[in-house]
Amino acid sequence: MIEHVDVIYGLAWGDEGKGKISNAMAKHYDWVCRWNGGPNAGHTVYVKGKKYKTHSVPSGIFAGKQCLIGPGCVININKMLEELRMLTMAEFDINLVKIHPNAHIITEEHIAYDKQHLSHLGTTSQGIAPCYADKMLRKGKRAVEVLEAKWIWDGQLSGKILCEGAQSVWLDIDHGDYPYVTSSTTMPYGACSLGFSPRKIRRLIGVAKAYDTKSGVDPLFPESLWDDSVLNSIIKFGDEYGSTTGRKRLVNWLNLDKLVHSIKLSGCTELIVNKCDILEKVGIYKVITNGELKEFSSLKEMKSFIYDTLIMADGSDLHEVTWSGDVEKI
Ligand code: IMP
Ligand code: MG
Repeated sequence: MIEHVDVIYGLAWGDEGKGKISNAMAKHYDWVCRWNGGPNAGHTVYVKGKKYKTHSVPSGIFAGKQCLIGPGCVININKMLEELRMLTMAEFDINLVKIHPNAHIITEEHIAYDKQHLSHLGTTSQGIAPCYADKMLRKGKRAVEVLEAKWIWDGQLSGKILCEGAQSVWLDIDHGDYPYVTSSTTMPYGACSLGFSPRKIRRLIGVAKAYDTKSGVDPLFPESLWDDSVLNSIIKFGDEYGSTTGRKRLVNWLNLDKLVHSIKLSGCTELIVNKCDILEKVGIYKVITNGELKEFSSLKEMKSFIYDTLIMADGSDLHEVTWSGDVEKI
């Protein structure tokens, strides 16, 4: 029996630090599951001071929890095995990792197509869109057809479940800035594709960042942002380089109008704002609100403006905001 499901997901364009949050919370759950995406994602997690990067394996692996890669995910077998080897070397128990039989397999052809035809969208070149396309055309290959039986999951979810999103609301195939999106459902309702009813969901934990970043192309992030020296210093202090591609991420000030929208759209009940400390290093505090830049004299002042704006937003279910410094208490 499933006791309850909590969902962690991104409210912006990815790279909000979801991995850090799910790693901090995993100890409270029986299962940690991924419902979307594949090797396009990059979760950076610190365990006992050591840095680990995962792409497909849920962060629950670091807490010794059962990990499920759901039917809505896509898998690159070689990359997956490489990741499992890395985890074994670091003495994590990879027998905890199971893959849903219906997850789809990324082929060399998918990757070649992505590189050849989709680079103008700034994709991660991992073959994601072509793999999902073949899935929809009902000619894709599923995990059950190609993976060794020991990896294939044939059980039932039970107990306390944590679902960790990959990518984020503005990269969602239905709600993002199409075509500058990814090819899966990043919205938290997508978690139900793991095989439980939406009524099982208890907490909807949205993760945002104290500033916005975009990896890859998006007209909402104009090229002129590259010329802003303050935003460039955020790239440096915030280490804003793609964990899958190594590309520099384009930085902009936090767009509160978009954040209000993504909170309402996704039904977020709790919000975590990461990387406030980076703005303190830079010493400049700004947000975009009602389409205009607004500057604050301190982080404290900026936090209270963000808090008031989000909590007061009409039609929002949000009732709690946690700032990055307090994440350890979760
Ligand atoms: P794709 O998922 O490789 O097709 O890439 C489509 C778009 O989503 C590109 O703009 C990517 O930069 C972006 N994207 C995909 N995965 C991530 C992620 O994990 N973090 C941030 N951006 C991502
Ligand atoms: Mg990432």
